[in-house]
Amino acid sequence: MHVYIEDIGKHEGVEVTIKGWLHNRRSSGKIHFLTLRDGSGFIQAVMSKAAVGDELFMAADHLSQETSVIVTGTARADTRAPSGYEIDVKHLEVVGASHDYPITPKEHGVDYLLDRRHLWIRSEKQQAILRIRHEIVDAVRGYFNTRGFILTDAPILTPAACEGTTTLFPVEYLDEQKAYLTQSGQLYLEANAMALGRVYCFGPTFRAEKSKTRRHLTEFWMVEPEMAYADLNDVMDLAEGLVISVVGRVLDKRRPELKALERDTTKLESVQAPFPRISYDEAVTRLQAQGLPMEWGGDFGGPDETALSQQFDRPVMVHRYPAAIKAFYMKPDPERPELALGIDVLAPEGYGEIIGGGERLADLDLLLSRIEEHQLPKEAFEWYLDLRRYGSVPHGGFGMGIERVVAWICGLEHVRETIPYPRMLYRLYP
Ligand code: 4AD
Ligand code: MG
Repeated sequence: MHVYIEDIGKHEGVEVTIKGWLHNRRSSGKIHFLTLRDGSGFIQAVMSKAAVGDELFMAADHLSQETSVIVTGTARADTRAPSGYEIDVKHLEVVGASHDYPITPKEHGVDYLLDRRHLWIRSEKQQAILRIRHEIVDAVRGYFNTRGFILTDAPILTPAACEGTTTLFPVEYLDEQKAYLTQSGQLYLEANAMALGRVYCFGPTFRAEKSKTRRHLTEFWMVEPEMAYADLNDVMDLAEGLVISVVGRVLDKRRPELKALERDTTKLESVQAPFPRISYDEAVTRLQAQGLPMEWGGDFGGPDETALSQQFDRPVMVHRYPAAIKAFYMKPDPERPELALGIDVLAPEGYGEIIGGGERLADLDLLLSRIEEHQLPKEAFEWYLDLRRYGSVPHGGFGMGIERVVAWICGLEHVRETIPYPRMLYRLYP
């Protein structure tokens, strides 16, 4: 009977068949220890000469890494085994050979590995990361789906910018029109929220960022909720609830993967409500007190976010930024119009911004003057302005970058390992 390694515990003492690949092999005289993987997990298969006969035993001595194999044997509980079980091999069949597999258990440089990303994802740590990514994505969807949010995805081919024009990827559209890959679905989500109340989109977004940092990809996945009749506090509550729920789900369901990554889970366990909420003013004061060369009015750079997030044991929300450094669509603070009602959520342990959003500008005249100030083409925004012409209401939302969240939860140095095929300044292959 074919079983997946993750289900092996249900078949103790029974003859099972595993269909997978040879991950590793070592031999001691009359026994081969074969580490098999089948995508669902890893298990040690013990092959003795006595059980399989001379011929198969000799053949198994030449099996190389990543040979695909079908192995039949009896599942046996073994408390020393990482999965809790081993297999006593009765039969082994080679499906596909594998010669000189380029990724060996020795250390390889990251560029070497990224060039072979299509194979690198077979390794244990990379699999663990991709499973956690899957869990995070599922938790995100579940969070919104169980709270009345309707999935209404935004287009990927767009006629204009959302977050600023410098980082757009242009695309040749039909009939010699120019289109751009989306940077954010937000503007469309605002329209969708006026139709359906609470909405979200979840898809790839693109930014031609020339920055070569450990937090930037040119293609990344973003989930963006938007709510009609919501203010800045509602947006902060939603962001806090989402992050707690996602971290809780990974702790609940993906302990073995976190262990494979040697993640300190106590750090994740302290991600509980309430998250500290500090103003931009206070953030600047805190950074200056730490001796960082931060002036009021400037945007936070990577090192500033890192320093700030290290001051807290859980994510911190920074609100009310200078309007001058934020996007045109942000609502000004009625008490201090030089501030925008935006928030960023910074992850702890120096991971920096994982969420950006806020309350939107709902007033038509003010929005028109902002579009002018930012020298944006008004014609392109006519449809967006309609939302302020026909029953405008206070509303807001945010965007959460999935790769940044995966990097933080997995405790990774760099976002490049958080997505199956990263796209970066100098990387478009494989
Ligand atoms: O802060 P950002 O630019 O916000 C927006 O795009 C808003 N329009 C979202 C909204 O309100 N609906 O991006 C949101 C998040 C960031 O906090 C970060 O997590 C992620 O997207 N992000 C990136 N992730 C990887 N690589 C990049 N180059 C990223 N740029 C932003
Ligand atoms: Mg941002």
